[in-house]
Amino acid sequence: MSTLAGKHIVLGLSGGIAAFKSAELCRALVKEGVTVQVVMTEAAEHFMTAVTMQALSGRQVYTSQWDSREANNMAHINLSREADAILVAPASADFMAKLLHGGADELLSLMCLARPIDKVPLIVAPAMNREMWNNPATQRNVAQLKGDGIHVLDVGQGDQACGETGDGRMLEAEEILEDLEAFFAPKTLLGKAVLVTAGPTYEAIDPVRGITNLSSGKMGFAIARAARMAGAKVMLVAGPVHLPTPRGVHRIDVRSALHMLDAVQQQVHGADVFISTAAVADWRPARSAEKKIKKDDSGQTPQLSFVENPDILAHVAQSPRAVSGQLFCVGFAAESHDLLAHATAKRLRKGVPLMVGNIGPATFGKDDNALLLVDEFGARELPHASKWSLAAQLIQDISKRMRVQG
Ligand code: CTP
Repeated sequence: MSTLAGKHIVLGLSGGIAAFKSAELCRALVKEGVTVQVVMTEAAEHFMTAVTMQALSGRQVYTSQWDSREANNMAHINLSREADAILVAPASADFMAKLLHGGADELLSLMCLARPIDKVPLIVAPAMNREMWNNPATQRNVAQLKGDGIHVLDVGQGDQACGETGDGRMLEAEEILEDLEAFFAPKTLLGKAVLVTAGPTYEAIDPVRGITNLSSGKMGFAIARAARMAGAKVMLVAGPVHLPTPRGVHRIDVRSALHMLDAVQQQVHGADVFISTAAVADWRPARSAEKKIKKDDSGQTPQLSFVENPDILAHVAQSPRAVSGQLFCVGFAAESHDLLAHATAKRLRKGVPLMVGNIGPATFGKDDNALLLVDEFGARELPHASKWSLAAQLIQDISKRMRVQG
């Protein structure tokens, strides 16, 4: 389940063309089980109607500090006391400047100023033209807002409504949602660096053919996302898969097992945790033809011979940092049968503290799975669930082990 379910968020709109994205954001938040209370500035109403936001949030919208619907006529107090967080999206350059100076001449800024600062976090999603964003005044304001404990989201980059191209676009609704979810997630891996491998590898036979496997990479990508939500700095080394990079995760794309080994060796130095979910091809063709292998008239099939690929996990697990406990290694055992026996044997063979068993053919390409966590003390099952839920549970488990280790 999303960390947002059951939360009460005040969604503030200041004036900006990005307000259309706030309608989508509002809908997405409601879908996640969030109660959304919309507050709009007068400028915001030039870009989006209160009627639209009321329909999407299912609640009356507040636009004025003189709103007599409130019995005590103190909308700014009442609204901010109910909230788990205030999210201002779009936050215009002017609105951020106003926040910085404690301006309070309309409901939204007044409510932000009046919020209990230790209880109700304020998150802003800036939205403006690239020159406005890069202007030293805005950058100074952003730094000062952060210094005041306000959570300033990144801006997007690309084509702008004014026809210019650059930084300053408001993030897309799903990006804001992801950042909001990360904001509320328990930071059990804060300050840790996590390296994850995911997906299959592809071993070329010639320029147009190769051998690979059915791994989709979904489990590894979900783990990378869960680790980022837990506050870790995450590096994802991905084999050839068509999956979007989880937000806030650094990604290196590789093709073959040798490429993957190379990338892992370069990235593993700073890591505290290595999670090897990749379905690395065990063998590669002894030689990959430079040109496409053609049929001839002889009816003979090409004779392929294979060499074994390096075992990336075993290699890392034998490194001095892993052996001394500075690097915690986690393997994934993809089996077709006798999961416990195979995962137990594989854990010992690879020399890792934790081996996560799963039935490969039952899960490859699917959105759900079931896991068996095998360590030196025995096995624990994480029953059938979505890959996302299992990834979050696994990251919690690893976080606990890291805490015990110190
Ligand atoms: N692994 C690896 N490099 C390899 C093979 C596997 O890093 N060349 C890692 C996988 O990422 C996984 C673990 O080792 O974390 C187990 O992978 P799996 O394919 O289940 O096992 P294999 O070692 O290939 O053994 P077998 O094929 O005999 O089951």
